Amino acid sequence: MKPQLIQRYSAPERINHWIVAVCFILLALSGLAFFYPAFFWLTGVFGTPQLARIIHPFVGVLMFVAFARQFFRYWHHNLLTRDDIQWMKSVKAVMQGHEVGDTGKYNGGQKGMFWMMCACMLVLLVSGVIAWRPYFAIHLPIPLIRVALLAHACAAIALIASIIVHVYAAFWVKGTIRAMVEGVVTHGWAKKHHPRWYREVTGKPK
Ligand code: HEM
Repeated sequence: MKPQLIQRYSAPERINHWIVAVCFILLALSGLAFFYPAFFWLTGVFGTPQLARIIHPFVGVLMFVAFARQFFRYWHHNLLTRDDIQWMKSVKAVMQGHEVGDTGKYNGGQKGMFWMMCACMLVLLVSGVIAWRPYFAIHLPIPLIRVALLAHACAAIALIASIIVHVYAAFWVKGTIRAMVEGVVTHGWAKKHHPRWYREVTGKPK
């Protein structure tokens, strides 16, 4: 018997998410190439080093705009509740496979991750624009550009580390990748990992 399915993400939501993800991968690879000489060959993701230097900021703006769309779609699902704090305090139990609290659409870890992504995106955009030659940086003082580049590198490292955790969790929790690929999850998945969201979307008591 085929399990019943619940829609979690619409097609436009999924396309939006994968635009952000592809931009992120291109930016992380080309950014690492600028950051550390041993990774210089990674500029090849955009064809040549010169092209990588020109295209990287434009892809950054595209990622920011696509992420802003996600922000306006999901911010209200990511407001912290008492259950989320309990979830965060019980990470060890969660890692052992236990469910903690009456979780809504997202759990405490996903919510923390969401706000971390937002903070990194904002720092990356502002610092990236300040350091963007030839359009903006030429009008700004060099010490400011230096601080911006340091902030840019720190936010990029924090975002790369966060996304590694995000991707690991997406594969670790069986059935989650399907939500962002096909847009659906099973009743069992929703009941187990997001019981309050399950009750909200199905109207069922348990
Ligand atoms: C690169 C590989 C990536 C994979 C495999 C992946 C996978 C997923 C999956 C499976 C979900 C659904 C989780 C659920 O509904 O419980 C999700 C949600 C989400 N992803 Fe990704 N993702 C990736 C990259 C990114 C990147 C780079 C960003 C942004 C910087 C991002 C931002 C989000 C956001 C905002 C959500 C909604 C969760 C929330 O609002 O708390 N993802 N991702």
